[in-house]
Amino acid sequence: MEHRRRPRYPGTNPRRFAHKYKELDPDHHPETVAKVLAAGKTPAGSHVPIMVAETLEVLRPRPGDFAVDCTLGYGGHAQAILERIAPDGHLLALDVDPLELPRTEQRLSQAGHSAGQFTTTRSNFAGLPAALARCGHPGADLILADLGVSSMQLDNPERGFSVKTEGPLDLRMNPSRGLSAAQWLPKVSAPKLATVLMANSDEPHAEQIARSLAGRDFATTLELTVAIRRALPAVAEEERELSVRRVFQAIRIEINEEFTALDTFLRILPACLNPGGRVAILSFHSGEDRRIKKSFQNAHHEGLYREIARRVIRASPEERHDNPRSTSAKLRWAIR
Ligand SMILES: C[S@@+](CC[C@H](N)C(=O)[O-])C[C@H]1O[C@@H](n2cnc3c(N)ncnc32)[C@H](O)[C@@H]1O
Repeated sequence: MEHRRRPRYPGTNPRRFAHKYKELDPDHHPETVAKVLAAGKTPAGSHVPIMVAETLEVLRPRPGDFAVDCTLGYGGHAQAILERIAPDGHLLALDVDPLELPRTEQRLSQAGHSAGQFTTTRSNFAGLPAALARCGHPGADLILADLGVSSMQLDNPERGFSVKTEGPLDLRMNPSRGLSAAQWLPKVSAPKLATVLMANSDEPHAEQIARSLAGRDFATTLELTVAIRRALPAVAEEERELSVRRVFQAIRIEINEEFTALDTFLRILPACLNPGGRVAILSFHSGEDRRIKKSFQNAHHEGLYREIARRVIRASPEERHDNPRSTSAKLRWAIR
C-alpha cells in the first residue's frame, strides 16, 4: 500500500478532532489502536461492538440466511453476521447516519465483502418493511437492532453529542433532518422540557433543570453542560455530572424521535420475520428496555412470536471491564 504521510498541523497541539487522533487512520497506526483498546477505551472514529458472542448465539446466523442489521454503525455486528451467512447469504444494513454509512460500506467492501453479499441503505428502521420490499425480500431470517448512538457520533465533537468537548450543539444522528438541539431548546417550554427529561432519562431534577434551560440559546455543547451544572448548585458534583449526561440523552432521544421509531419498529417487526426467524435487540436505558419487553410479551400473547426471552441478557464482567460502554447494555430476543 502506498505510504501516506499524516497531514501536518499548524501549532504544536492539533485542535481539530480530525487531526488529533492517530486511530483515525487505523491502517497506518495499528499499534495506537491496540493500545487504546487495551486501556478499555474506544479508538477515535470507531465503535467497539457490544455483546457480539451473545448476539450471535441468540440470532444463530447460518450460511444462506437473509439477515438485517437495522443499525449498521461501524459494522462490527454486521461483519460477524456476514462471516456466518457466507457464501450465499445476504445482509441488508440500515442506518440513519448519512456521514458514517458510506464509510462503513467502504470498510465492509475493503474487508472483502462483495455487493452481492450486502446492501446498505440510509433508512430509519421504522421503515424496515419498505427497505425489505426494495430488496425483494418480504421477510428476514434474522434481524438485529443495536439501539442508540455509535461511538463515532458520541466522540466526534463536530457531531455535537459530546458533553466533554466543545462542539456545535447538534445531537442529530442525521444532521440534515429535523431540528438540532441548539434550534430546539429556544422553542421548548419549561413544562415540555421537564416531561422530556423525565420520560426519556428518568431525570430526578427535571423541573429544576427545565426551568433553567427552556427557551434559552445554547450554541455549543459546553455552554449547555455549564448551564446544567449551574441549574443544580446544591447537588453533589458526581450526581450533577450524571444529570448532565441524562439531559443530553433525553434531548437526543427527543429530537431524533427515537421512541417513536422504536415503537413503530416493534409493531412491524413480527411481520418482517420469516416463520422461525429471530430478532435480537440491544438497548441501553430503561425507557428502551421497557418498550421492548412489553412489546415482546404482548406479541407473544397474541401468538405473533412463538418464544421470547424470559430474562434480559447482560454483558459479561470481562466485557464490562474491557469496554465500559457495555455496562448498561441489555439484550432481548424473540422468535417468530
Ligand atoms: C450503537 S450504534 C450500532 C453499532 C453497530 N452495531 C456496530 O457494531 O458498529 C447505533 C447506530 O444506529 C443508528 N440508528 C439509531 N437509530 C436508528 C434508527 N431509528 N434507524 C436506523 N438507524 C438508527 C445510529 O445512527 C448508529 O449508527
